[in-house]
Amino acid sequence: MLGAMVMQPTQIRLVDYPTGTPTDETWTLTHLPTRDLQDGEIEIDVQFVSIDPGMKGWISPWRSYIDPIQPGDVMRAFGIGPVTKSASPRYEVGDVVSGFTGVQTTAVVDSRGVRPIDLGLGPAELHMSVLGMTGFTGYFGMLDLGWPEPGQTVLVSAASGAVGSVAAQVAKRQGARVVGIAGGPAKCAYLTDTLGLDAAIDYKAGPVAELLEAVVPSGIDIYFDNVGGETLDAALMQINRKARIIVCGGISQYGDMTTATGPANYLQLISKSATMTGFTMLDYMHRIPEALTDLSAWVEDGSLRHRQHILEGIESFPEGLRMLFRGENHGKLLIRL
Ligand SMILES: NC(=O)c1ccc[n+]([C@@H]2O[C@H](COP(=O)([O-])OP(=O)(O)OC[C@H]3O[C@@H](n4cnc5c(N)ncnc54)[C@H](OP(=O)(O)O)[C@@H]3O)[C@@H](O)[C@H]2O)c1
Repeated sequence: MLGAMVMQPTQIRLVDYPTGTPTDETWTLTHLPTRDLQDGEIEIDVQFVSIDPGMKGWISPWRSYIDPIQPGDVMRAFGIGPVTKSASPRYEVGDVVSGFTGVQTTAVVDSRGVRPIDLGLGPAELHMSVLGMTGFTGYFGMLDLGWPEPGQTVLVSAASGAVGSVAAQVAKRQGARVVGIAGGPAKCAYLTDTLGLDAAIDYKAGPVAELLEAVVPSGIDIYFDNVGGETLDAALMQINRKARIIVCGGISQYGDMTTATGPANYLQLISKSATMTGFTMLDYMHRIPEALTDLSAWVEDGSLRHRQHILEGIESFPEGLRMLFRGENHGKLLIRL
């Protein structure tokens, strides 16, 4: 009897939209069997799920770039795993796929909503990080909107994280001088010693505006923004003429989406003829093969560094999500199910 209980699929469901930081009471753990497959659906044995800052938006009652989930729903998440049942001509049992599986051990999804994974390019956890959505986000955000060149100075915030570490290394490959911002000496040492960035700023060590001025004497040509807030304002004060600010994320503002604060120094955009552009990876889904070709080659030859922070077990989800907002993840945060 106990064995049968353990084998039941397990799900993390939203109880209600949290105000502020999600607590343990925001979630409930259920053990429910999966339903029968309809035409076009597949069942996936989910091996890893991704924990992402954007999840904060998915559990707010307002639409962001995607609809929020509803109370009672399984929490939305990217996942990866082998197909265990198929009612779709697209996939056979044993194929490995990735997409929105939700935070659950077994997922039944529309086969059109997932993409096939080539484990020949790397293990499953890499397809959830540097060879997955966060890697693609750093790649397209930097190359398609930033156009870094030799002689230019590029600033990246949350630079030791999943998206930022790829964006920063891509700019470095293009010959730019790259400065990364991260919280704490260990993450800053990772930026310079492991990722090979030219300088690092520990934004927790003092006012970021003062720290920044000292390391970008020639100003900033590209700012890849993952955090918003005070850091975005500090960067605006250092931009050069024709600078590009790429608004990828604003994690410092995700605490309460209703009170997100815009940059006070935005008038710098006028005097510097600069641009500030928001983007979402969802605009680039059709170009994933391009990114995958480059990123997998750079991972293979060792020139693109990456790290995953892997939590064990579905029960680690509530605390894992809070870790992201405390900066306690070192690399792409994942759960192994
Ligand atoms: N536009 C898109 O399509 C897209 C796609 C994926 C992700 N994103 C965005 O990209 C950003 C990075 O996501 P990720 O998945 O790569 O996460 P991550 O960087 O791996 O982890 C989040 C990091 O953000 C930093 N952070 C947390 N709270 C902060 C605060 N108040 N101020 C400054 N930094 C803070 C922490 O690093 P420190 O220890 O350095 O503070 C934390 O480790 C997020 O804003 C996310 O929403 C956008």
